[in-house]
Amino acid sequence: MGARIIGIPMNAEGMNLQLLEKYLKSHHPKLIYTISTQHNPTGIATSQNHRQQLLQLAEKYECPILEDNAYEGLNFEPVPPPIKALDKQDLVIYAGTFSKTLIPGLRVGYMVVTGKHFQPLVERKLMHDIHTSTISQAIVSEYLASGHYRRHRRRLQTENLLSRNMMLQAMESYFPQEAKWTVPNGGLFLWVQLPLNFDISEIRKQAIEQNVLFASGSAFFPKKQGYPAMRLSFSNSSESEIELGISILGKLLKKHLLSVPLR
Ligand SMILES: Cc1ncc(COP(=O)(O)O)c(C=O)c1O
Repeated sequence: MGARIIGIPMNAEGMNLQLLEKYLKSHHPKLIYTISTQHNPTGIATSQNHRQQLLQLAEKYECPILEDNAYEGLNFEPVPPPIKALDKQDLVIYAGTFSKTLIPGLRVGYMVVTGKHFQPLVERKLMHDIHTSTISQAIVSEYLASGHYRRHRRRLQTENLLSRNMMLQAMESYFPQEAKWTVPNGGLFLWVQLPLNFDISEIRKQAIEQNVLFASGSAFFPKKQGYPAMRLSFSNSSESEIELGISILGKLLKKHLLSVPLR
């Protein structure tokens, strides 16, 4: 749609709010996009305080927030309520999906929209696809009514936590000490930062040759700038596959370290 996207760097707490304020002042953006819980790709869940401060900035500069909570319910520890729960001025549009917990192919999600954004959004959605498949919606609706969803999410949380721990353990054993990673308290993946000069696309190519696939960090930055990084998914492989995959990646990273001068 021709939107001009400005990426705001993250720190350990989430979006850097000082930088955000700078851009709110200088560029008057039309929308702040944020993933408050298990951010994709870093896995960070923001604190209550960070959520409040972000909302205060949105209010101060009258800029709506799109809170994308696609990883809702995939947290291993309690997380604060969404920003939408604090929103008294109808500035926050909340979006969720069943893609991450149930079936991606159903493509059923939901939004919580209050106030003046509701009608324009309904109209845009109508123009876009008339409506989401009623059969897909009926399947989700039946499933929710059955009461299985809560149990299913609890099982996912337990299984994903085991897989995350398995991957962390394997990374400790196989990755070079130059690699740094997040320890997310939920979600589906880990974010690994590598030294500058690391050629991630080359490492990815070599990894694919050995049947190991990861997402290149550059895919997650607007205009693909940023630093060398990898997003590693722990949710869809068995323990032995995780161990094998991480050992292959570890060898590739160590080989690469020897071949590039570090900056
Ligand atoms: C933050 C975020 N939002 C939305 C989606 C996609 O959701 P859906 O399948 O409902 O389009 C993803 C999937 O990768 C995601 O990571």
